Amino acid sequence: MTNNEEKKIILSAKKISKRFPGVTALEDVDLDIKSGQVHAIVGENGAGKSTLMKILSGVYQHYDGQIFLDGQKIAFKNPAEARQAGIAIIHQELNLLPHMSVAENIFLGREPINRFGFIDYNKMHTKTRTVLGYLKLDIPATTLVSSLRVGQQQIVEIAKALSLDARIIIMDEPTSAISEQEVAILFALIKDLVSKGVAIIYITHKLDELYKVGEHLTVLRDGKRVDSCLLAGLSRDDIVKKMVGRDIGNYFVKNHQTSQDVVLHVVEMSLPQSGQSTRFFLRDINLHVNKGEVLGIFGLMGAGRTELLETIFGLHPEATGHIKIAGHQVSITSPEHAIAAGIGYVPEDRKREGLILSMSIAHCVSLACIAQILQYGFLSTARENRLAAKYIDKLNIKTSGIAQNVETLSGGNQQKVVLAKWLATHPKVLLLDEPTRGIDINAKNEVYQIINQLAQSGLGIILVSSELPEILAIADRILVLSRGRITAEYAQQEASEEKILKAAIP
Ligand SMILES: Nc1ncnc2c1ncn2[C@@H]1O[C@H](COP(=O)(O)OP(=O)(O)OP(=O)(O)O)[C@@H](O)[C@H]1O
Ligand SMILES: [Mg+2]
Repeated sequence: MTNNEEKKIILSAKKISKRFPGVTALEDVDLDIKSGQVHAIVGENGAGKSTLMKILSGVYQHYDGQIFLDGQKIAFKNPAEARQAGIAIIHQELNLLPHMSVAENIFLGREPINRFGFIDYNKMHTKTRTVLGYLKLDIPATTLVSSLRVGQQQIVEIAKALSLDARIIIMDEPTSAISEQEVAILFALIKDLVSKGVAIIYITHKLDELYKVGEHLTVLRDGKRVDSCLLAGLSRDDIVKKMVGRDIGNYFVKNHQTSQDVVLHVVEMSLPQSGQSTRFFLRDINLHVNKGEVLGIFGLMGAGRTELLETIFGLHPEATGHIKIAGHQVSITSPEHAIAAGIGYVPEDRKREGLILSMSIAHCVSLACIAQILQYGFLSTARENRLAAKYIDKLNIKTSGIAQNVETLSGGNQQKVVLAKWLATHPKVLLLDEPTRGIDINAKNEVYQIINQLAQSGLGIILVSSELPEILAIADRILVLSRGRITAEYAQQEASEEKILKAAIP
């Protein structure tokens, strides 16, 4: 199906509105989805994208407006009903059960049954291998999800949606954690699905992706649809302008000064792979970060970036080597030690490590810095609230108030809360793992500004990022990791995408 006439509207949402206490997430939004087409949806953090998708996929049952599937009015009572009607969703936040296998996760609630009425594991594993094969993810179907990297978990989420043979697949930021190679595989799959008539609803903050897969575009701003049109002919600037509602100034300008004082020194650090004395996640790492410096670390998936930050933060007590903070050797064998030594860590997977989602923003921000709000031995609500209010203001967090639960914030705003939590501990060194993942283009600039200000105030910052333009823009110095070793070091002025990539490829 390539011919435009054959593309029919299969799903139509009319005047959808959704209110949460204190916020109108969606207001009178119309959306028409055609078969055989990729329909991209963009908008700033908190614009309402995920909320709209949750309505279409049966997660939310209460909303105003109407939804039609093949011309029939529908009202799903739950996500299972939406799946039966052929609508699958890959959620923005990973939703897998960590202590179950990949196959069990993919077939959860619809396990194949054999003729004796038991779960047919053979069939389940074979089917799992087939869909993992489409995605070229080479792991056994029995692998526990908890042992997978974030990127691999995201691919399992995609596999789960694919295994449903849906007619409409909603992808809410499916590529936020996967490698470029994995993105290419996903895009080839999307093209294939579309040619078979499947409709894809695609949400992303990465505008280059739109041009690679998108055909139609809908822009949401503050819960309203501001435009819906074909993508062809629109420039990047046109799209950003529609999203933000005005021209946004050019990129941020770095203006912090790096001092000569070394704040963090990592000496001869190695991390063996568990049970193996000859294979290493990290090998002979020597690095330092100065006060007021942003040290960028680039590496491909699996190069050891996350392991490096985790080890500095005390999560791998089996590592060898040592760490000095401001010239003093410190023993860091747990996160408590790391925090006490003045290290803050914003992890890659905010859901698993950074936030306790069912807490209010006020509690979340204070989590790692209880001491500051413990007044005469009691947890002072007033102090906690002041602290939260300060960071909501400082980081421009979009929320209905400090009592809002973190899980109900939009993805990008959740990321800001994680950052706030660590800033509240007044660290000397801040480790940032992909801090702008899932953050919209405007908020990204805000985060760059924040990193810049933090460096200016004297923090040493290690920034791990898989986005080269980001590293090139904000790091003062760049280290390249490949297979657990540092393979190159560049000052910002001498670094280029080509040089860095060359050093990163094993
Ligand atoms: N369950 C909820 N309870 C209260 N408010 C909510 C809930 N879910 C979403 N919101 C609010 O609704 C608005 C829209 O959120 P939504 O998650 O749809 O944004 P988004 O466009 O997906 O953003 P992002 O790009 O950051 O993922 C935000 O202001 C958010 O705080
Ligand atoms: Mg979202």
